[in-house]
Amino acid sequence: RPPRELFYLIEEKLATVITEKDTVRDLEERKRVLLEKLKLIIEPVDAPIDYRVLIPRVHSLPRIPVYRAHLDNLIYYMIRDKAGLGILEPVLKDPYIEDISCPGVGYIYIVHKIFGPLETNLKFETAEELDRFIIELSERIGKPVSHARPIVDATLPDGSRINIVFGTDVSLQGSNFTIRRVAKVPISVTQLVNWNTFDGRVAAYLWILLLEGSSGFVSGETASGKTTTLNAIVAFINPTAKIVTIEDTAELNIPHSNWVRELTRDTGSPETSVTMFDLLKAALRQRPNYIIVGEIRGAEGLIAFQAMQTGHPVLATFHAASVERLVQRLTSPPINVPKSQLDNLNFVVIQSAIYREGVLVRRVLSVNEIIGYDP
Ligand SMILES: Nc1ncnc2c1ncn2[C@@H]1O[C@H](COP(=O)(O)OP(=O)(O)OP(=O)(O)O)[C@@H](O)[C@H]1O
Ligand SMILES: [Mg+2]
Repeated sequence: RPPRELFYLIEEKLATVITEKDTVRDLEERKRVLLEKLKLIIEPVDAPIDYRVLIPRVHSLPRIPVYRAHLDNLIYYMIRDKAGLGILEPVLKDPYIEDISCPGVGYIYIVHKIFGPLETNLKFETAEELDRFIIELSERIGKPVSHARPIVDATLPDGSRINIVFGTDVSLQGSNFTIRRVAKVPISVTQLVNWNTFDGRVAAYLWILLLEGSSGFVSGETASGKTTTLNAIVAFINPTAKIVTIEDTAELNIPHSNWVRELTRDTGSPETSVTMFDLLKAALRQRPNYIIVGEIRGAEGLIAFQAMQTGHPVLATFHAASVERLVQRLTSPPINVPKSQLDNLNFVVIQSAIYREGVLVRRVLSVNEIIGYDP
């Protein structure tokens, strides 16, 4: 890494050539703009330079002289840290990485599609470094963390989902974050059949269910592939249907053209926040043929059942490893669906992630029809 003084010089100079209209959201575009600006302010030279002596004169220099041997690394780090996501860039580029997690100061961990959970050699040395990284990252993605609002769910520029917990008062080891990568190209039903997540007959059965407007949940443990399965089978819904999706973070990708995409807004204060509950109630007035909820966790579950009751089919993911658990969670607080209403839910797909011969595989364990509830 080139000397710190050089980065200081470059940043100072850069600030004078970057204007409001250079702020672009698209990642590749940002990198291109930054590279252009860097070329404007850099003067490559053939001899080594003592950058320290230039610091007092930075504003009078038309261009910053940069020793050729430093040039490539300087540009790499500038682009990685200013346009990209800093030390996360390399892991975010690897399509085999499913999850990236930073439990606090120290090393970053990943879950690799083939090698499973691993420790990386990337690390945050101090709490200050970690906090600064998290603050900058959260500001960049438009959902700044603060001590007043320490928990943030958001989407990274590449579409990955991120959860951030900021500060030591709510998280004992300090700030932490977890990133769930999403596939660049949405995973299709044929791909899932190819991977043996379910077979062609199950796919055909789900197709019939969705063409008939059935309501269903894809249920399973964390990272069992629920969202991926839900996203794939949505393609079975009649292509002319109106679909309303409701999520906390944008993960669903619906091929239908008549698609209303709604996201919750968490401002930290109940007056200005928009919850899943609010959006679901609103969806009932939007005449949808299908309502798709990213994940049902709380009070919105009851509204989902009211939607089904009034003839609006609902699809959702749910955290429960079996139908019994699912029924238990649905019928107890905070969801409280009356047992007599349970059969509005027509089917439940139970999915699981298991290690088979050392490799993590995702399997649909069963598709269950809910016919009624016998207490
Ligand atoms: N059938 C599958 N085969 C192989 N990999 C899969 C499969 N389904 C999902 N994955 C991968 O597993 C990871 C988790 O998938 P997904 O986000 O769908 O899980 P989830 O159950 O919705 O997780 P969460 O509980 O955190 O919402 C992703 O990286 C995804 O690409
Ligand atoms: Mg999910």
